[in-house]
Amino acid sequence: MGTPALREPARHGNISPLDVNWVRAQFPSLKQMVNGHPAAFLDAPAGTQVPQCVIDAVRDYFENSNANTCGAFPTSRRTDAMIAAARAAMADLFNCDADEVFFGPNMTTLTFALARGIGRDLQPGDEIVVTTLDHDANVAPWRALEERGVVVRQVDIHEEDCTLDREDLRRKITSRTRLVAVGYASNAVGTINPVAEIVKLAHEAGALAFVDAVHYAPHGTIDVRALDCDFLACSPYKFFGPHMGCIYGKRELLLRFRPYKVRPAPETLPDCWETGTQIHEGLAGVTAAIEYLAALGRKCAPSATNTRRAALASAYAAMREHEMNLAARMIRGLIEIPGLRFYGISDPARFAERAPTVGVRLANCKPLDAAKFLGDRGIFTWDGNYYALNLTERLGVEKDGGLLRIGLVHYNTAEEVDRLLAALHELAASH
Ligand SMILES: Cc1ncc(COP(=O)(O)O)c(C=O)c1O
Repeated sequence: MGTPALREPARHGNISPLDVNWVRAQFPSLKQMVNGHPAAFLDAPAGTQVPQCVIDAVRDYFENSNANTCGAFPTSRRTDAMIAAARAAMADLFNCDADEVFFGPNMTTLTFALARGIGRDLQPGDEIVVTTLDHDANVAPWRALEERGVVVRQVDIHEEDCTLDREDLRRKITSRTRLVAVGYASNAVGTINPVAEIVKLAHEAGALAFVDAVHYAPHGTIDVRALDCDFLACSPYKFFGPHMGCIYGKRELLLRFRPYKVRPAPETLPDCWETGTQIHEGLAGVTAAIEYLAALGRKCAPSATNTRRAALASAYAAMREHEMNLAARMIRGLIEIPGLRFYGISDPARFAERAPTVGVRLANCKPLDAAKFLGDRGIFTWDGNYYALNLTERLGVEKDGGLLRIGLVHYNTAEEVDRLLAALHELAASH
């Protein structure tokens, strides 16, 4: 189980470096100022900014297509076509078929709904494996099945580098395991898990594998066929789209499990898993966000992008290279700050095992105070547990304000990283 989930950026294949000026020009909100400082959005793990084309798509939906579905008039027909387009776009992002994707208000709500549906077929004594590294949205929905007598086992981490304890994982997956719920990447400390191998372990034990790719989706190409995962969740608002959630499920499983639904709603996939009227304007924005990424990919590799999926792969390769260059600069600078404790992988030789998201603490300075200090200087970071509660408890920091989280995406710059480092040096010197 040694293969990192995310390969180093492809330097071959004629992918040119990311043009960060072009990227930033697409995102109007990046122009904001705070107390005379340009806003530096280092808060992406909590949600990314959106490009102008997403704003335009949402507005255009309201202006030209706003209606409910399946009506006998033009705006409703346009709504049906728009939903089909969003499913097709998401299918390109995941590498699946359009009827294997269902949407909803956010990943948490959808995961509770899916878990309830799966739970109907579980028996007392059946086991589910969750992890200490995961966001609670990939823990609580499975723990809710304990009410039915399901036993939940939690895999531990190695505290020194915040990676999953693979021996513990192997021990906890047994013939009683029915599902393994694992994160692709940690939203708190950036660790990328070896998901393909974990899926294989689950399948060898006869269990299903559910992958939370919410934190991974802005950083790396997702291929559900290659992973062979049974379910995979993500949230478009973490990858430059509107506030929504979305789940991929293998067709035969979405047909086998029974969603809780109202009787007149369609029995067909994927509609049967989508409860009530969807956020149509958000779906219009999802397609636009994926088109934005594809346009970025075509810009970075004009000759190798004959399909939208190929264009997306090029975009991710260019974004990954840019982000990890910035992350290397940031981590190098962070670990030099007197009194700073770094949580997670800091060895550059192992950066393939991490996303550009880091968790730190400064001596004698609560994460909230650090976030406020930075926020006053226009540098947006996050403090607390960001719902990765198992992790902050395990690291012993929950009672003391959690961690300060800094998350980079492809629209961030070296100048922003340097501003962050200078501000943290100033803060450390004053404590
Ligand atoms: C790794 C991870 N999983 C799940 C979630 C929950 O996603 P949502 O807000 O769409 O419910 C988040 C949100 O921060 C997350 O970072």
